[in-house]
Amino acid sequence: MTEQLHDVRLRVNGIQYSARVPARRLLSDCLRHDLGLTGTHVGCEHGVCGACTVLVDGQPMRSCLMLAVSAAQHDDITTVEGLAAADGTPHPVQQAFSECHALQCGFCTPGFLTLVAAYVRDNPDPAEEDAREAVAGNLCRCTGYQNIVAAVQRTAELTREQGPAAKSGTAPPADPAEAGGPHRPQAPQTRGDRP
Ligand code: FES
Ligand code: FES
Repeated sequence: MTEQLHDVRLRVNGIQYSARVPARRLLSDCLRHDLGLTGTHVGCEHGVCGACTVLVDGQPMRSCLMLAVSAAQHDDITTVEGLAAADGTPHPVQQAFSECHALQCGFCTPGFLTLVAAYVRDNPDPAEEDAREAVAGNLCRCTGYQNIVAAVQRTAELTREQGPAAKSGTAPPADPAEAGGPHRPQAPQTRGDRP
């Protein structure tokens, strides 16, 4: 039997994408396989590890727990590819993770970066204890977390130093029409559907 496909439109990192997907397509798979945004990593695929975290309307969301057809009902998705400024300047969270040596293999990093970007946006001066709690839901096999916690606080410090311009990419624009960005008419067709 041929599976029914659905046309979805997703605004990711300020770019409008289109894809044709089965109703069961996970947002994580859609991002990676249909849209080619492989910065979002997939670890456990059932909501435990947080590697797949993206921002949906500015809020952290495990993309392996959301369907692409559901995500299309939201205004804006930010993946790790969308954190840096348009001119390539790293987001404070990216600078902080680098400075604090908060990654080793990097597999978990995209999930931490999106999570921490949103956390610091909402909590500009976290105590160490708060920073630790903020990242407690994401798993890292390499770092022991101490440097990640330090990076949360360093992100906050850099954000305070750099001001509002440092927050790009972590929240949907007030008016999506003002965001601009090229229109990408048709993403590659679905391939390698999950069984
Ligand atoms: S891959 Fe989504 S939480 Fe692990
Ligand atoms: S840096 Fe390797 S899993 Fe976190």
